Amino acid sequence: MREPLRDGHGRLIGDVRVSVTDRCNFRCQYCMPAEGLPWLERDALLRFEEIARLVRLLSEMGVHDVRLTGGEPLVRRDFPQLAAMLAAIPGVRDLSVTTNGYLLERDAAALVEAGVNRFNVSIDSLQRDRFYELTRRDALPRVLAGLEALGRFPQAHPIKVNAVALRDFTEEEALPFARFAREHPYEVRFIEFMPLDADHTWTREQVLTGAELRAIIAAEFPLEPVEREASATARVWRFADGRGRIGFINPVSEPFCADCNRIRLTAEGNLRTCLFSLGETNLRDPLRAGASDDELERIVRDAVWRKELKHHVNEPGYVQPARTMSAIGG
Ligand code: GTP
Ligand code: 5AD
Ligand code: SF4
Repeated sequence: MREPLRDGHGRLIGDVRVSVTDRCNFRCQYCMPAEGLPWLERDALLRFEEIARLVRLLSEMGVHDVRLTGGEPLVRRDFPQLAAMLAAIPGVRDLSVTTNGYLLERDAAALVEAGVNRFNVSIDSLQRDRFYELTRRDALPRVLAGLEALGRFPQAHPIKVNAVALRDFTEEEALPFARFAREHPYEVRFIEFMPLDADHTWTREQVLTGAELRAIIAAEFPLEPVEREASATARVWRFADGRGRIGFINPVSEPFCADCNRIRLTAEGNLRTCLFSLGETNLRDPLRAGASDDELERIVRDAVWRKELKHHVNEPGYVQPARTMSAIGG
């Protein structure tokens, strides 16, 4: 065991989000251009053994929660094999996946079998034509089938559904998603649109806040607050009649940086201490140059110590990271 991992602001780090690829089989308007982005070369990506080594080292420092993201993680070849390698690390207690759901019908069983115990599935619209418009893929039926496939595995619950909230788009999704959350065993969460888009056209006006969406929903279905868990991204409410829950991830209107316990590892092995970091720490090169665990630990601690206190989205002079969400790992 190693010393717990702390930053210079007294926050304990317990969660790592690992991006396993920068590629994606969707082209969400707010994330990627239709033609895609310049993808990383295969050699640039961390190999499974390299990811597992870093995750094991982090878990020895108390980072027990591991979330696999992308891009779209399920497009990485043999992804369930990676999940199994990570699930086998004794210090990994919560192994979760964030996916667009397109390949879940194919992979749900293999991923659950590998030891993934939680899934968050991104669905921005419950109407087929609007889903197509936003993702540039006519894939809603297939994604819903993927969700159903997951539903067959009680060991992989709760299942969460993430919807990015965009002004002039998501208002009309609010009640359908609320009904969806009431009729299925899914916790739906709306995510405020963050300035991490590929074309850098984000404006504050495009952010539909969690409070606005909650007002639309509460007018139809009364809500009661659920106490916020430490370090949680979402503010969760339960339907007052007991039929399910709904959450709001409000990084813009109600930042939750104060008790952030998360770090990120990009697909090419850079450590990011914040979603909005302007700099990264390369772990792949020392790893490939033969660094010992103790040497890697020193590099990690040094970077994490300098973890940003908070993001600056709401301040004048905010500078957007050069990377988009798909390259950072959502
Ligand atoms: P749970 O542990 O299931 O609650 O998952 P999560 O909300 O941590 O992960 P998920 O991948 O579902 O992320 C939902 C949204 O929250 C995504 O848009 C993430 O980018 C965003 N998010 C996650 N962590 C952070 C964070 O530290 N800061 C900000 N600003 N957004 C975050
Ligand atoms: N702002 C908020 N959420 C975003 N996501 C992707 N880009 C953004 C953005 N700019 C979402 C995805 C997915 C989750 C991992 O992050 O739609 O639900
Ligand atoms: Fe793919 Fe996610 Fe970006 Fe959509 S938001 S294009 S699903 S990486």
